[in-house]
Amino acid sequence: MNVVEITIDPDKCNRDAICVLTCPEAVFLQSDEFAIPEVVQPALCVACGHCVAICPAGAITHSQFPPGSIKPVDRQEIPSVRQVEHLLQTRRSIRAFRDRPVSREQIEQIIDAARFAPTADNTQSTQYLVVQDKDIFRRISQITVDYLSGIVRMLRNPILARVLPVLAPARIKDTLGMLGDLEMVLRSTRGGKDWILHDPAALLVFHASTRISLSDVNASLALHNAALMAQSLGLGCFYAGYFLVAAQERKELRDLLSIPPTHQVYGALAIGYPLFTYHNWIERRPPRVIWL
Ligand SMILES: Cc1cc2nc3c(=O)[nH]c(=O)nc-3n(C[C@H](O)[C@H](O)[C@H](O)COP(=O)(O)O)c2cc1C
Repeated sequence: MNVVEITIDPDKCNRDAICVLTCPEAVFLQSDEFAIPEVVQPALCVACGHCVAICPAGAITHSQFPPGSIKPVDRQEIPSVRQVEHLLQTRRSIRAFRDRPVSREQIEQIIDAARFAPTADNTQSTQYLVVQDKDIFRRISQITVDYLSGIVRMLRNPILARVLPVLAPARIKDTLGMLGDLEMVLRSTRGGKDWILHDPAALLVFHASTRISLSDVNASLALHNAALMAQSLGLGCFYAGYFLVAAQERKELRDLLSIPPTHQVYGALAIGYPLFTYHNWIERRPPRVIWL
């Protein structure tokens, strides 16, 4: 992160110390109750913008946030609790898509939602790849199916099936309980159906440098923001998990998508116009919660 320049205008500052209390990195210090806070550790700033967003007096200027990048909150536009709840209750994984393209503007709006997800230390680490080419979809599905076939062969081998639970890397172990699912995917694919991507209009791939701490978690959070925006736009999507696992294991797949060698794929959403409308939403199991 570049060293930032933060200034507090003493004529505007009302000494409420909200910047001191909300900065996650202790960049500010208020020496006593009535003092104007000082910028004591600008080198620690992660440019999250909390200080400029929260100062009621508009007293803080920050080199990362020039005029135009600071916008007023419009509370009228924030959905109600019921609206948020119903958005979440009615989101479903959509796997049956219309043969209709999704516009570039819609995909940009989905990515725009993704970039507002939180990221550890505000690294904003997630990068995006948009695939709309049907030939590339076919290649992705082929390589993924090849990869899954290899796993199924391994799991069906009686000797390997006994040693794998002990020796295999965690990712392979995860698939041990999925033999039935994998066999179903392979059977359906042989029948001509693309069970990996389900013929979407677009595949949005979330990738990031493996050197950035928690970049996998950041990408997952970005992905769900994207999914909710897709839903709000009247689109549908599902988490392309089979593709994800194959992309993480198969360099061939990452090369096909020009994923940089220092990056890993951390998520993927297949997106399109839903073919069907859901008329009901379904209860989930009650949460398992411990309160301490
Ligand atoms: C990590 C992850 C991987 C997934 N992978 C796939 C996948 O490869 N194919 C698919 O059709 N659905 C996939 N899904 C969607 C789940 O099957 C789905 O979320 C779950 O059945 C609940 O249904 P809902 O999303 O409609 O609420 C995945 C979901 C997650 C969170």
